[in-house]
Amino acid sequence: MKLFIDTADLKEIEQIASWGVLAGVTTNPSLLAAVDGDEVSIYRRITELVDGPISAEVVADNREDMVTEGRRLAALHPNIVVKLPTSEEGLQATSVLAGEGIRVNMTLCFTATQALLAAAAGARFVSPFVGRYDDIGNDGIEALRETVDALMGSAYEVEVLAASIRSPIHVIEAAKMGADIATIPPKVFHQMLKHPLTDAGNQKFNEDAAARRARQGG
Ligand code: E4P
Repeated sequence: MKLFIDTADLKEIEQIASWGVLAGVTTNPSLLAAVDGDEVSIYRRITELVDGPISAEVVADNREDMVTEGRRLAALHPNIVVKLPTSEEGLQATSVLAGEGIRVNMTLCFTATQALLAAAAGARFVSPFVGRYDDIGNDGIEALRETVDALMGSAYEVEVLAASIRSPIHVIEAAKMGADIATIPPKVFHQMLKHPLTDAGNQKFNEDAAARRARQGG
């Protein structure tokens, strides 16, 4: 499973990109609202930091404006993927943009039926939201599994991008079921890396190495 980062914060992207683990980036209007700077410069900088699909979301709410905004975003860089909401207008705009060779990530997918419609309209990525489904008392991981099962081996050229990931357990579950991609917030990347036994083991190795050096006179 490929790992994307879910943030518009350039420092966080730079940090996790330096680990050599990132295959792409997702942003959304709320993530952009949390950082300073104009969005075009932010997208451009992200394309310099990560070589892979970079999702940039449209904010228009009708087909025509979605298409215009999508074209504008896609023209920024070949790696930009246009993020469109799961809606009637979103499907219409997906079909137009896909017909022009522009890649679309259909976001805010909660069911396998929504994901099938997105794939049929030509979306290259569908984003089932795990955490937000859990938030309303449903099972986000089960909904993700249904989407993966429904699209796996289908005729559509589409990747399932597990989104709204809130914990390392979500990441593992997504990987085990065969999701193509998980987009992960920076905090969860750190949680994935950290383990108290790793830290304790490292500290002991360093202490023992220092003790040996001291014994040998430096
Ligand atoms: C995905 O592309 C979205 O940006 C994101 O995963 C939403 O996550 P949230 O539900 O934690 O806001």
